[in-house]
Amino acid sequence: MAVNLKARCFLSLNDFSSEEIRHLLEATRVLKQQFKTGNKPLALKGKSLGMIFQKASTRTRVSFEVAMYQLGGQALYFSANDLQLKRGETIADTARVLSRYVDGLIARVYAHNDILDLAQYATIPVINALSDYNHPCQGLTDLFTIYEKKKTFKDLKIAYLGDGNNVVHSLIFGVAKVGGTLRVATPAGYEPNPDVVKLGQDEAKKNDARIEIMTDPFFNDTATTEIYTDVWTSMGQEAEQKKRVRDLKDYQVNQELVKNAKPDVLIMHCLPAHRGEEITGEVIDGPNSIVWDQAENRLHTQKALLVQLMKEKNVE
Ligand code: CP
Ligand code: NVA
Repeated sequence: MAVNLKARCFLSLNDFSSEEIRHLLEATRVLKQQFKTGNKPLALKGKSLGMIFQKASTRTRVSFEVAMYQLGGQALYFSANDLQLKRGETIADTARVLSRYVDGLIARVYAHNDILDLAQYATIPVINALSDYNHPCQGLTDLFTIYEKKKTFKDLKIAYLGDGNNVVHSLIFGVAKVGGTLRVATPAGYEPNPDVVKLGQDEAKKNDARIEIMTDPFFNDTATTEIYTDVWTSMGQEAEQKKRVRDLKDYQVNQELVKNAKPDVLIMHCLPAHRGEEITGEVIDGPNSIVWDQAENRLHTQKALLVQLMKEKNVE
């Protein structure tokens, strides 16, 4: 049966089948190609997207706003201080009301339950623009970026170094769905959420994928095809910053690590980067880095996502 994602919410990559994720990746490829060749379909003409941000954002906010503009629609940005949420109106009531005005919602929240509540009470598609639990828009972009470079997921050996956070949770869910190997190396005490690991490993078995969790940073592994890292201190964890820098110092992605890897290893980071902490400036600016393509692809994957969830019936 043809994949149809109309009216779905996008809260976690784990809610989507392997086929649905591949459908989104193909839709991204087509939209990106159309965009690069000057053919810009206004698939969301007349549609509005509400964007609620409890936390800061550069890429997510700007790429969603521009995506809506390029698709012929409009985006409305609300910081945590703009809405009556700040004065005690519930998330459920906010969802009910905004559903009467706009055609889709994205939200960046601290507590994942907030995004679940929004989705439960909204009658329009809700997209998770990052929570403390996961970051599925980033995960989708990461899969697209890897596929764009490698044309396959089968032989991938992705190494993630750092803190077991929201970004790696989505990477676990994503790789588990499409195939390849993801090895996550964190210091003891910084492992990814065990429920995510269990869900990912169960899913991986069905899709010829492997998810491995370890504490040793694998400096000498010459089979690694991508090295991925993220900030050691996520938004909301600022009070732990000094301890995190101490505890995670051996997990830095630096020139030494890159030198010991395959010459064509790809360096990935969801950004923003803290140069000198999880990654050195030399590596992020070096020839193996694909972080700027990765950042650009947020725009293309989110356009595909918006079209697929908010489209009229006759849009493929
Ligand atoms: N990667 C990412 O989501 O970046 P922003 O926090 O700038 O949106
Ligand atoms: N793990 C980071 C990702 C930012 C895009 C954070 O939550 O701050």
